[in-house]
Amino acid sequence: MVKVRYLGHSAFQIVGSRNVVIDPFISGNPQAVEPEGRIDLILVTHAHGDHLGDAAKLAKEHGAPVVCMYDIAQHIHGVQTYGMNYGPAKIEGLDIVMVPAWHSSSINGQEIGNPAGYIVEMDGKTIYHAGDTFVFGDMALFNELYGPIDAALLPIGGYFTMGPREAAKAVELLKPKIAIPMHYNTFPPIRQDPKEFRRLVGDMAEVRILKPGEETEL
Ligand code: NI
Ligand code: MN
Repeated sequence: MVKVRYLGHSAFQIVGSRNVVIDPFISGNPQAVEPEGRIDLILVTHAHGDHLGDAAKLAKEHGAPVVCMYDIAQHIHGVQTYGMNYGPAKIEGLDIVMVPAWHSSSINGQEIGNPAGYIVEMDGKTIYHAGDTFVFGDMALFNELYGPIDAALLPIGGYFTMGPREAAKAVELLKPKIAIPMHYNTFPPIRQDPKEFRRLVGDMAEVRILKPGEETEL
């Protein structure tokens, strides 16, 4: 059994035989929910503060390594990092693929690394976290190579990422069983109605709308 727990914004916890946290933006996040249990691994999609967030702090507290793009890892100090790049890797016994995303990546306005998404396989379930991105045709390739995707975690806020219309197109390309919206309603520019996303997805996938702190079983 694999559980996906929403921590608000783009932060999620994937809990099964491992406890993985993705994009732990807790401090300064108005939706923040603290992760539960002992964290084994922290994945970061890109260097923006609302994704890199508390990665280093949690890594220290839990003794958990941080996985991120090589160039971003150079800026994370005092904790173990796996600085990888686009491609598959087996890290701490977990199959992880870092995949491209269309966005930017910087710390204090200085470009650092490139943005990414992750495809994580845990206990026979495949989860895609898109990071911050616009929709792109190669999402179909993610399904071809690594599918079937059990759950796709997709930004729907617009302004910095896909909005509901683009995210619904992403669902068409990825063909996940379950789609979970993220990166909306945290701040005024990304105010969005997740039910609009559900309406546009229609019967292409089951849309599960999680409130921060809620979890769902895959
Ligand atoms: Ni970003
Ligand atoms: Mn963001």
